[in-house]
Amino acid sequence: MIDSSKNIRPGDILRKKRFGGELTETEIRAFVRGVVDGSFADYQISALLMAICIHGMSDRETLALTLEMARSGEMLDLSRIPGIKADKHSTGGVGDTTSLILVPLVACCGVRMAKMSGRGLGFTGGTLDKMESIPGMRVDLDVDAFERQVTDIGCAIIGQTAELAPADKVLYALRDVTETVDCMPLVVSSILSKKLAAGCDVVVLDVKTGSGAIMQTLEDSRKLAQMMVRIGNLSGKKFSAVITDMDQPLGNYIGNALEVEEAIDVLAGRTAGDLKDVSLQLGAHILKGAGAVSSIAEGVEMLDGKIASGEGLRKFAAMIRAQGGDPRVAEDTSLLPKAKSTVELRADEPGYLAAIRTDDVGNAAKLLGAGRERKTDAIDPAVGIVMHRRVGDKVRRGDLLATMHVGERSDRIGAYNLLRRAIRIGTAPVPRPTLIHDVIEA
Ligand code: URA
Ligand code: CA
Repeated sequence: MIDSSKNIRPGDILRKKRFGGELTETEIRAFVRGVVDGSFADYQISALLMAICIHGMSDRETLALTLEMARSGEMLDLSRIPGIKADKHSTGGVGDTTSLILVPLVACCGVRMAKMSGRGLGFTGGTLDKMESIPGMRVDLDVDAFERQVTDIGCAIIGQTAELAPADKVLYALRDVTETVDCMPLVVSSILSKKLAAGCDVVVLDVKTGSGAIMQTLEDSRKLAQMMVRIGNLSGKKFSAVITDMDQPLGNYIGNALEVEEAIDVLAGRTAGDLKDVSLQLGAHILKGAGAVSSIAEGVEMLDGKIASGEGLRKFAAMIRAQGGDPRVAEDTSLLPKAKSTVELRADEPGYLAAIRTDDVGNAAKLLGAGRERKTDAIDPAVGIVMHRRVGDKVRRGDLLATMHVGERSDRIGAYNLLRRAIRIGTAPVPRPTLIHDVIEA
């Protein structure tokens, strides 16, 4: 068969999308190939990403992009690992540390977690960056080591291997720094291409909604969730989605080592609240999808039992050890990188914490050095923000609202001003935000 996509030039595709045209499957194949083999330059790819953001993509284009990206590398076959293999993916948030909590807990319940994670994207944090704040921790295992670890201890969290959806690797890094993250077809194709290629049987998607989510309205979040579940289930795997709240940071700790610390606190049973609740809900959906429990309530109870028994924390330590990290952090979080100094933010008026512009909290953490401005930037694992109040809390004048953990390269004034503006205090009581907005099943 003659592959007609070989004759298509980057400029043809760019021009068509610039004026809002619908790309054919052949054009999309040419683009994805060009991304992977380097025949499309970064600036051409970036320009097309921006045109896609501006003009959108039809469902047909999105499906084609997803499938071409999934096929741009190896399609993993995890069938050598016994039992059901599950994965979970978040559309991204702030203080969104659920993977570090639910992966060991679910593994304790007998469902294997073969988790492939990403790095920070835009104002959102990434599990890999968080994991790497643990001294010695490696996230670049090859597929054989990944399979062995999932078989032996029941869980692993690694970066997408070089062979897996390589097109997404290129696009993800460019989107992060070109303001082209919050675009439905790009999010769908990015997440699903990896999940389709990664070989798990059960995938639970955590679709965030609110000011710290890629999709900020519930309507858009629901559309994204439905589209992903629809396209995902075409592949024969079991996809479901939970729409969860991101109208304030999920956990109270934002930043890489800080988020690891909070995850450990949850696993150790020292911290309860929204982060724990969402982690257990998502974990319960995985257990239910895998047939290990018959209801979400049963799943939540089983997972909570693994916190109470200490098994979850021990499993987390085992996963760290298996990936070359220092497992003592599970017992002693002072071994994590720590910032040299802190800056406090206090309430200058009394009232109720009315709203938090969560994306700006994420951006403030980024200004401190917790994320990247350019794709080659190094992050500072120690910096970040600890929030002391949640939406709906009553505050008095002078109450501590947040503590910034700052480093040498932090833009502390920029971060402080952004954070100050992100937290709004009002005079009237406000209800606490709903945590779980919806569940989309196949
Ligand atoms: N997570 C991803 O992997 N890709 C996106 O586009 C958004 C969140
Ligand atoms: Ca980033």
